[in-house]
Amino acid sequence: MCGIIGYIGNKLAVPYLLKGLHDLEYRGYDSAGIAVLADNEIEVRKTEGRLSALEKLMDKKPTKNATIGIGHTRWATHGKADSLNAHPHLSENKRFAVVHNGIIENHASLQKMLEREGYHFIGQTDTQIIPTLLERNYNGDVINAISDTIKMLDGSFALAILFVGDTENIYCTCRSSPLIVGISKGSGHIASDETALVRVASQSVRLGKDEIAKVSRDGVSFFDENGKPVKKAFKKIERSTLDIQKNGYEHFMLKEIYEQPKAIKDTIRPLIENGKLRIGEYFRESGMDTGSINRICITACGSAYHTGLVGKHVIERLAKVPVECDIASEFRYRQPLLDENTLVIVISQSGETADSLAALRLAKDKKAKTLSVVNVPSSAIAEESDCVLYTRAGPEIAVATTKAYSAQLSVLYLLAVHFAFEKKTEKKEELDALLGHIINLPGLVEKTLKKTAEICKEYSKIFIGSEHAYFIGRSLDYASACEAALKIKEISYIHCEAYAAGELKHGTISLIEKDTVVVAHACCKSILKKTLSNVMEVIARGAKVILIACESDREILSEFDNCIFVPDTSEYLLPSLEAVVSQLLSYYTAKGLGNDIDKPRNLAKSVTVE
Ligand code: G6P
Repeated sequence: MCGIIGYIGNKLAVPYLLKGLHDLEYRGYDSAGIAVLADNEIEVRKTEGRLSALEKLMDKKPTKNATIGIGHTRWATHGKADSLNAHPHLSENKRFAVVHNGIIENHASLQKMLEREGYHFIGQTDTQIIPTLLERNYNGDVINAISDTIKMLDGSFALAILFVGDTENIYCTCRSSPLIVGISKGSGHIASDETALVRVASQSVRLGKDEIAKVSRDGVSFFDENGKPVKKAFKKIERSTLDIQKNGYEHFMLKEIYEQPKAIKDTIRPLIENGKLRIGEYFRESGMDTGSINRICITACGSAYHTGLVGKHVIERLAKVPVECDIASEFRYRQPLLDENTLVIVISQSGETADSLAALRLAKDKKAKTLSVVNVPSSAIAEESDCVLYTRAGPEIAVATTKAYSAQLSVLYLLAVHFAFEKKTEKKEELDALLGHIINLPGLVEKTLKKTAEICKEYSKIFIGSEHAYFIGRSLDYASACEAALKIKEISYIHCEAYAAGELKHGTISLIEKDTVVVAHACCKSILKKTLSNVMEVIARGAKVILIACESDREILSEFDNCIFVPDTSEYLLPSLEAVVSQLLSYYTAKGLGNDIDKPRNLAKSVTVE
C-alpha cells in the first residue's frame, strides 16, 4: 500500500526513481511524486493521478540534475488524492522531504501541538507532520532527529527522508510497514518492496521495527530507535523476482491466470517427494511439535481468507480437527481463545498485509503455534512465523489475485492431507489417491483454462449492463462463490454478493427479480441436489443463471442454460477449477466494460494499513 523508492548513486536519480515507481505502482496509484536534492535545495514534483501524469509533469518541468532522491506512489488514506496531499511532503523550512507509507494515528494531536508552537499546515494528510517534526527535533544530527520523531509517532510508517544539509545520504526508518534497503557498487537504494530493487541492487536487507538506516553511495549504516549503531546482514537478491513482464498478454491478470498450472506445480513440488508428503519435515525443521495441536485457526484478508474457507472444510473433513476461519481484521480484535495447542495459519500473498501480520503477532503473544502460507520470501509474515510454507507463484502484479490464490489452495489441500495422515483419520489408500489428484491438479487447471475460456468470454456478456449479481453455493461451492463474487466486484465494479445457497430464502431472495444475474456454483456432488433446489427457486423468480458444474453432471443438468463445465476430480479440489472459471468471467466482464483490469479503482495490491 503506497510505494516508496529512494536512490543515491553516481547517475541521475530521476530515471531510477521513475523506474522504481513503475515497479511499485501496483501498491497504490492515485497520485505520485518525487523529491531530489541538488545545489543545496530540495526540488519536489508531484501530481494526482497515475505515474504517467508525473512523467508528463517531469517532461514539462524537469528538476535540476541530481544523484540523490526519493519517490512515492500513493494510495490515499488521509486526505483527498490530489497533488497537495501527494508525497513527498516538505518541512516548513524546506530542509526535510519525506515520503511515507502507513498511518500516523496520533497525527491530529501532534498537528495541534505543532500549530501551537507556530508551525503551519496546508494539506490534510497524516504525513505532513513528519517533516515538520524532523525540522523541530533537528539539533545538528539527523539520526537523533529521526529517533526523537519516531518516538512521538503512534501507528505504522515506512519513511524515506532527504535532508538539505546532507547530500551524501538518504535516511529511512519503519514500523509495521515494510522497507528494504538495497546496495550495489556505487549506489544505495530504498524500496517498500524488493520488486523495485531486483534490477538495480545486488543485496538487500529488511529494516526492523524502528530501525534507522543512513544510505550512502558506498554503504549503509544502521541504528536502533535510540540512534545507537547496530549491525545488519545483507542477503543476495533473488533474481527470480525479475519476471515482471506481460509477455505478450494484454494484461498481467490474464498472464497470471494462464500461469496457474505452473504456479501450482512449482508450489507443490518442494512439498512432495516421490509421491510422499514432506510437510512434516518442514514442521520438524522449524522445531514445531504438531502432535499436540487440537485446534486450528486460519486467518487472512480478501481472497486469502477465501482460501482459508476452503481450507477449513477440507482440513475438518479429512483430519477431523476443528478449524475456525476468520478475517484477520476481525480476528485480531475479537480476543480469540488461543493457546499452545492451537495452530494459527496466516495466509498472505504479499506477506505484508497489516491485519494479517497483526493477527500473527497476536497468535504469537498468546503462545499459539504459527504457520504462514506466503508468496513473497523474506516478507514480514514469513519472517515472523514459526514455520512457513511458501507458495511459489512468482511475482503477482495484477491487483486481483489469481495464481497466488490457486497456489495457496494447493498448500491448504496438502496441509489437510498431512494432518489426516498424522492423525490417521482417513485410510492411507484414500489419502494417497487424493495426493495423486493434487499432483494432477496443474494438468486439470490447464484443461479448465482450455475448455472454458471461450465460454466464459461469451457468458461475461451476461454481466454487462447488470448492476447486481449473486453468487450461490453450498459447502466448498460456497467458499468458491465468495471468491467469485469478490473477483467480479474488484475489477468490474458490479455489486456482487455471495450467499450460502440455502440462506438465500432468509431475506436475500427478495432481491431476485426478472433478469437478476445469479451464478450458481454446483460442483460438489455430495450436495448437488440441494444446491439445484435453490437454483430452481431463483429461476422461478426470473433470475438469469450461470451454472458452474462438473463435466460428469452434464446430462443431469441438460435442462439448464448457460452451464460451464469443469473437469471432474476429487470434490475437495474443485475450488481450484471453479476459481479459474470465476477469474475468466471476471476478466472478460471487466474487459467488456473497458475497465482498468490490472489497477482497479480504489484498490492496492499490498494493504499495509489497517
Ligand atoms: C488486497 C488484494 C487481494 C488480497 C488481499 C490480501 O485486498 O487486492 O487480492 O487477497 O489484499 O492480501 P495478501 O497479500 O495478504 O494475500
